[in-house]
Amino acid sequence: MAITYHESTRVFTLQTEHTTYQMKVGRFNILKHLYYGKKVEGSSMDYLLWYPDVGFSGNPYEADTDKCFSLDIQPQEFPSAGVGDYREGCIEAVNPDGSRAADFRYVSHSVSRGAYGIKGMPAAYDEGEESETLLICLRDDATGLELELKYGVFEKEDMITRAAVLKNTTSGTVELEKLFGVCLELPFGEWEVVHFHGRHAMERMPERIPLGHGTFCISSKRGTSSHQHNPSLILCAPETTEDAGDCYGMLLVYSGNFTARAEVDQMGQTRAVMGINPEQFRFRLDAGECFETPQAILGFSGEGFTELSHRFHRMIGRHICRGKYKYARRPILINNWEATYFDFNEEKILRIAGQAAQLGIEMLVLDDGWFGKRDTDTSGLGDWYVNREKLPEGLEGLSEKIHALGMKFGLWFEPEMVSEDSDLYRKHADWALRIPGRKPNRSRYQLVLDMSRQDVRDYLFERMSDLVSRARIDYVKWDMNRSMSDIYSAKLPRERQGEVFHRCMLGVYELLERLTTAFPDLMIEGCSGGGGRFDAGMLYYSPQIWCSDDTDAVERLQIQYGTSFFYPVGTVGSHVSASPNHQTGRETPFETRGVVAMAGSFGYELDLNLLPDEEKELVKAQVADYKKYYELIHQGDYYRLNAPGDGRDFVAWAFVSEDKRQVLLNLVVTHVRANAKAMFVRLKGLDEGKTYRLPDGRLLSGGALMYAGLSIPARPGEYRPIQMELVAQ
Ligand code: GLA
Repeated sequence: MAITYHESTRVFTLQTEHTTYQMKVGRFNILKHLYYGKKVEGSSMDYLLWYPDVGFSGNPYEADTDKCFSLDIQPQEFPSAGVGDYREGCIEAVNPDGSRAADFRYVSHSVSRGAYGIKGMPAAYDEGEESETLLICLRDDATGLELELKYGVFEKEDMITRAAVLKNTTSGTVELEKLFGVCLELPFGEWEVVHFHGRHAMERMPERIPLGHGTFCISSKRGTSSHQHNPSLILCAPETTEDAGDCYGMLLVYSGNFTARAEVDQMGQTRAVMGINPEQFRFRLDAGECFETPQAILGFSGEGFTELSHRFHRMIGRHICRGKYKYARRPILINNWEATYFDFNEEKILRIAGQAAQLGIEMLVLDDGWFGKRDTDTSGLGDWYVNREKLPEGLEGLSEKIHALGMKFGLWFEPEMVSEDSDLYRKHADWALRIPGRKPNRSRYQLVLDMSRQDVRDYLFERMSDLVSRARIDYVKWDMNRSMSDIYSAKLPRERQGEVFHRCMLGVYELLERLTTAFPDLMIEGCSGGGGRFDAGMLYYSPQIWCSDDTDAVERLQIQYGTSFFYPVGTVGSHVSASPNHQTGRETPFETRGVVAMAGSFGYELDLNLLPDEEKELVKAQVADYKKYYELIHQGDYYRLNAPGDGRDFVAWAFVSEDKRQVLLNLVVTHVRANAKAMFVRLKGLDEGKTYRLPDGRLLSGGALMYAGLSIPARPGEYRPIQMELVAQ
């Protein structure tokens, strides 16, 4: 049993292979957090609780004259609000009587096998009842409101999931202004935070900073998880490195507005919470209605960041990504965007596809511009009908020809958007989000559809499913190219306008669920101007996401490095594009672009017909290599061997198979120097007792490769790669 409850001590223990999470129903039925960290067996950690007399930290009435019992100090699973805990909380609600306090106490619990679901939202699932679920029912006696805390224990993956449901069991109305499903209490130690910030075309840059007193906060109110911040957070000890030290990961399974906060309180205790951003949020719960939070996934590693990443990679790969392409090899694709932009016709596309097929590429993805009046980005979004001027035989005709080449056919959509210059907008202006009396904020000339509306979603489902089935579409690139603003739904009354952001997100999930159910073999690649919605929520529907609009291989070293802390390599859409690069103007060797794109779900995005013959041969070789190493790249363990910008003149990473017999070492030189020192790399994750054969025939032990390392003469030249396979004998 992964979950146990001891009646005598009232302690819950959640065990995974290497971690323990413990909590206790304490005095006055307050659910207290005891411990989360390295596995501990046979002990109740309630001895860790301490009760200092802290001035200006009040005492619950039940504590009578006990000045030392204060909610302001105690670690809790779901902190109360407005009744004496002044730290970052998990709930803000206006009760039926207008008061804003919430104080939930333990009532009962149940344990079952299998994973819990969340209504209308993605959540970690399991197929063979490999996990266990603990549901804890709490109640606020003054209001009568009920709260259910959900815990999932994924033993093998060393992960705990959390979520909460607020049930309006009163006869009045509750206005919810904030509800977080997770609170991680770290009463001891000093912690640093690692978070991932960025901007368009430069996503998920890690930043590590010490937590000081007060609250550290990241958030998005853009309607997507965003390029600017990722819904993930690591708390680590100051001494933690890739290979050693304590670290906690928190990952939100949600793709809309979020916040993640970590507060160091007056006693030096740290509390981290995460959930839907309370800004621009107000959800009305009439009698009998419920509100469910998104799920958060928690992981702990006592062995540094690499182990933490591996645990999240396995969790996402096995329990978030779904569908046929969870394990099936994904087709190597060619996308026409950077090859043609809007300027294409059937002939051009077929020329690219024909050349791609000859080189072994397996799918043609037709990007933006195939529909409506769409020769620039100023018009056409919403008119999901083929543009016959560009494609006279329709998508069916093109698809047939692509399939006849032995390739699959993929198509770009941006379902959530509308151009003002479109038939859809002329007919249904009220389908766009805009506030009466205000001119909307445009972005990339477009407005956002009100995805909270059933009629909008029905239109999109009809259009997409019609095209997917008629034109035998194998893959959809689902894009979302602006931040949301002007939040107001023409369909909702005044008192429900605060729900629009979240309802739009639920609408997107509903449409994705409908499509993936109707077309189980359809592969979806998520996208939001590259990686503006790169999160575990989207990965539930699309096993890969276009990682960034920056396709420069050298920039991608950084972007893919940051992305790898939480997300497995297979989820990272990555393409070989033209040189000079369209975003940065940098020139890089063709081989480098291949090596970097292979640290992801691999494809091409350039006009292959323009390549010299030597580069066409390189495409063939890359395609063969990627197929050869597919298992290793997608199912093996990914090791960051150094960090971009760490003072070394290269970036290196490796894939190691589960049985440690096969290793693929990758390295890109980022700086050339006169009279340069050798590049020195220590491998990781090998079997120290095994002997590995290097491509030059040398035989070296795993121990030598990991502890002494490999010395590589700095000869390859600027931006040149090294990719070598090491095989155990
Ligand atoms: C976004 C995507 C690109 C491309 C364009 C098309 O920016 O990230 O890959 O699809 O839209 O407009």
